[in-house]
Amino acid sequence: MRFELKKVFLFAGFFLLGAIIVLIPCVVVIARRSSNECPAPTTPSVTTSAMTTSSMTTLPLITSSVTTPSMTTPSVTTSLVTTTTSSNPTWNASDYQSNSDYYNSSVNPRNFDQSDNLRLDRLSSPQFRPINGKSIIYLRRQYHMPDLRGSTTTLHWLDIETNKTIQLTRPIWGKHDQQFFWIDNNTILFLSNRASTGLNQIFQLTLPENVSQTIDFIDPIQITNYPLDIDNLLVNRQATRLAFSCQVYANLTIQQTVDRQLTEQASGRSIYQFDKLFVRHWDEYMTGRRHHPFLVQITRQTNGIFNFSSEPIDILFPLDSDSPTRPFGDAKAQWSFSASGNSFAYTRQYDETSEVAWTTNLDIWTIDLTTPGQSSVCITKENLATDTDPSYSPTDNNILVYRSHSIPRYESDQFKVKVYNGSNTKITLLDNWDRSIQALTWSRDGQSLYLETGEEAENVIYYISNIFTNQTIVPLTRNGTSHNINLHPIDDQIFVFTYESILEPANIYLYSSSDSIRPLTIHNKVLLSKVKMSTVAEKFSFAGAKNDTVWGWHIPPQNGTNNSAPLAFLIHGGPQSSWYNAWSYRWNFQSFSSQGYAVIAINFHGSDSYGQNFTDSINSNYGSLPYEDLQLGLDYALTNYPYIDSQRATALGASYGGYMVNWIAGHPEMSLRFKTFVTHNGALDTRSKSYSSDELWFTEYDAGNFTPWDNPDAFEIYNPVNHVANWTQPMLIIVGARDYRIPETQGIGTFTALQRRGIPSRLLYFPTENHWILNPLHSVAWYEEVLGWMRKYTS
Ligand SMILES: *[C@@H]1O[C@H](CO)[C@@H](O)[C@H](O)[C@H]1NC(C)=O
Ligand SMILES: *[C@@H]1O[C@H](CO)[C@@H](O)[C@H](O)[C@H]1NC(C)=O
Ligand SMILES: *[C@@H]1O[C@H](CO)[C@@H](O)[C@H](O)[C@H]1NC(C)=O
Ligand SMILES: *[C@@H]1O[C@H](CO)[C@@H](O)[C@H](O)[C@H]1NC(C)=O
Ligand SMILES: *[C@@H]1O[C@H](CO)[C@@H](O)[C@H](O)[C@H]1NC(C)=O
Ligand SMILES: *[C@@H]1O[C@H](CO)[C@@H](O)[C@H](O)[C@H]1NC(C)=O
Ligand SMILES: *[C@@H]1O[C@H](CO)[C@@H](O)[C@H](O)[C@H]1NC(C)=O
Ligand SMILES: *[C@@H]1O[C@H](CO)[C@@H](O)[C@H](O)[C@H]1NC(C)=O
Ligand SMILES: *[C@@H]1O[C@H](CO)[C@@H](O)[C@H](O)[C@H]1NC(C)=O
Ligand SMILES: *[C@@H]1O[C@H](CO)[C@@H](O)[C@H](O)[C@H]1NC(C)=O
Ligand SMILES: *[C@@H]1O[C@H](CO)[C@@H](O)[C@H](O)[C@H]1NC(C)=O
Ligand SMILES: *[C@@H]1O[C@H](CO)[C@@H](O)[C@H](O)[C@H]1NC(C)=O
Repeated sequence: MRFELKKVFLFAGFFLLGAIIVLIPCVVVIARRSSNECPAPTTPSVTTSAMTTSSMTTLPLITSSVTTPSMTTPSVTTSLVTTTTSSNPTWNASDYQSNSDYYNSSVNPRNFDQSDNLRLDRLSSPQFRPINGKSIIYLRRQYHMPDLRGSTTTLHWLDIETNKTIQLTRPIWGKHDQQFFWIDNNTILFLSNRASTGLNQIFQLTLPENVSQTIDFIDPIQITNYPLDIDNLLVNRQATRLAFSCQVYANLTIQQTVDRQLTEQASGRSIYQFDKLFVRHWDEYMTGRRHHPFLVQITRQTNGIFNFSSEPIDILFPLDSDSPTRPFGDAKAQWSFSASGNSFAYTRQYDETSEVAWTTNLDIWTIDLTTPGQSSVCITKENLATDTDPSYSPTDNNILVYRSHSIPRYESDQFKVKVYNGSNTKITLLDNWDRSIQALTWSRDGQSLYLETGEEAENVIYYISNIFTNQTIVPLTRNGTSHNINLHPIDDQIFVFTYESILEPANIYLYSSSDSIRPLTIHNKVLLSKVKMSTVAEKFSFAGAKNDTVWGWHIPPQNGTNNSAPLAFLIHGGPQSSWYNAWSYRWNFQSFSSQGYAVIAINFHGSDSYGQNFTDSINSNYGSLPYEDLQLGLDYALTNYPYIDSQRATALGASYGGYMVNWIAGHPEMSLRFKTFVTHNGALDTRSKSYSSDELWFTEYDAGNFTPWDNPDAFEIYNPVNHVANWTQPMLIIVGARDYRIPETQGIGTFTALQRRGIPSRLLYFPTENHWILNPLHSVAWYEEVLGWMRKYTS
């Protein structure tokens, strides 16, 4: 995984996390197991009175105090910033207010800011009701108005013919519904932490025949009551089996895992012991628990409620391995049931050795569920690069498609689609098509695919028909960012999806034909009517390094280009990523342009939506081609947008962008063009980073496929620490202490160098944040600090 990650909507836990290309190893080791070896997780108990059945035993409940990260406010004290610690307010349904109610009554039109950004409802996962496709359900996350202390995610219903919407589940601060599945015309299974334990469990929602007559929230029925969170869920189309995951110790059951945790807590000792890598991954220490998929049969009882009708089987028992993979794998992409519902495919991380830290070899495994005691079979052994996202054909039990890299240890290799038909010879679709596939969705007849891919800074959808014959490719959307496709149950040409752009936060859209693409949702309409934002996001291109064409974005200040304006020169992370035509809750162009800044954002060599050759070109060139592109891009912008004041420029970047800021700072021909810098979780010393970062594959591959001892020069040639003597410009350094990609000492070192050299600088240290600033209160503080710093040096 990169320094900075691609954004996909994934509601896991409490925050919107970027989903990623998570690449892991599956060295060829067969998971040998029989049903006799299976752990027998205790049958879930049922807390809802309606569900008491004799087949279920009651588990002792573990009382766990679950805190919602977004609601805890750790105190951050630096020279100027003090975020006060608050006692956890007890939010309840009665202080619920939608953003429309709040903005309609309380806000006069004014410039957009980051608080407005974070008060937007976040919409995701639209799915047609199977009965007739006339309505959809989607997830709606809302934040507490106006202070952002808390959020809730509910199931929301929308009638496509009348535009009527109904919030199906009750919004309660800290409660989040996620990962829902239509089981039939009127039934939904989903995950929620509405359980009295506060843990994520499986729930059932039964809709009335005519949903539009619903006048009150519908109370979901709790199906499971395990003493651990259920993190992932997938239900087969027959509603006869489901898969869920819990984080268990490799050879322990759910209950044994809980017992061991209690024993360890009671011991009073807190020591981690490691005999292999990872020590840490992304933002957690690897202390032994693993995401294991449990497979179980389900049955609808006469009262209409589902229960488990077999013992759940942990199909990874007793392996020290995860599925879905850490840190961002999700069941929607990495798990699949076959057409019959009787086989299960999954992507797995196999990390019995330290090689997990330097290989990207993910593999796909399948398991036949009809015969007890079957072993999983690895179907992608021959490829030592990543194979992931298995998706069984909806019509043929023997067909499975998946995404695949060809270069081992290269996480930013082109993803191609492969077809597996039961034999070891896989067919690569569109082998000569220069696009990296992000996601795929089958047509209902099992003959065609919908593909999501990046294309010149847009995230677009293609339809590839007749994959087994003549493979015709048709683009369906051309601009903006489209994800989360869900097909109409009757008419395959119609689908719903999420759409967003630099100018528009995400809405649910309906695609009926190339001439008819329209938004269905308006939850943020009132809020957006009360804030002033830029209405222009312009793409430009110029001759960059090596005289190659390089692209960029220009977003003028919200209040126009009549006066000269200061510049926010934004440098993206990755580095194999792009500034996309997408909305962001973190680095949002609008949060700068609305404050009077011109925004220039260059998609330099290494960016990922301009063909694989352009992406690959950053290899061994971290400080050269992108650096030249940024110089030439700045020249271009100052020449072509004369209102931009060249004397009032700030360069800002996170992750690779933070590294690049540190690199620029040591090169006077570029550094003196900026009055000041902002560097967020950026590397100072690429050599020491290569020994302390979690994922070694990208550090090594990007340096030319070398380790730092085989080729020290590969790690020194573009190392910012070698140029500290040339630093002159004031800098704001931002660090997340739980960032194990770019360990905090990189930022502390940057600050130390600046202070030691007497250069104005400030360190903003977030003890509870990771590579990203996710807590909304921290995000608002981040913008206050960053914009304040920029104003100080560029007013
Ligand atoms: C719910 O919150 C409101 C506003 O904070 C408060 O006045 C009320 O007492 C709370 N009710 C319960 C049941 O906690
Ligand atoms: C906004 O408030 C006005 C005046 O109170 C009201 O007429 C209108 O219906 C409200 N609009 C929305 C979308 O709530
Ligand atoms: C679902 O609805 C369709 C159309 O009304 C009906 O034909 C079918 O029997 C329903 N299925 C179930 C399981 O109720
Ligand atoms: C639903 O909304 C769409 C788009 O805003 C509009 O064209 C259509 O007329 C609306 N339908 C009804 C029944 O109001
Ligand atoms: C569902 O209820 C609404 C509101 O009462 C009504 O207008 C509509 O005709 C009903 N639909 C059906 C299919 O009965
Ligand atoms: C689980 O594995 C650990 C480490 O290999 C071992 O010490 C322990 O005895 C095992 N526990 C069980 C219940 O098999
Ligand atoms: C592609 O193949 C399908 C099915 O074999 C056929 O119906 C269609 O006409 C073909 N399209 C083209 C452009 O050849
Ligand atoms: C997006 O694409 C559609 C057609 O695909 C076009 O009509 C529209 O103008 C485009 N919008 C922008 C902002 O480029
Ligand atoms: C750069 O590329 C442009 C367009 O491809 C070409 O016209 C120009 O001659 C090239 N310049 C150099 C120095 O190669
Ligand atoms: C835009 O807003 C900024 C910040 O409020 C201000 O300094 C600038 O003069 C404004 N520009 C125009 C053209 O109004
Ligand atoms: C590949 O990329 C390099 C670096 O951007 C460029 O110089 C070269 O012309 C490209 N080759 C092709 C075949 O596009
Ligand atoms: C500092 O910059 C000057 C001018 O570009 C260069 O000659 C010198 O080598 C640089 N020194 C360091 C340590 O980077």
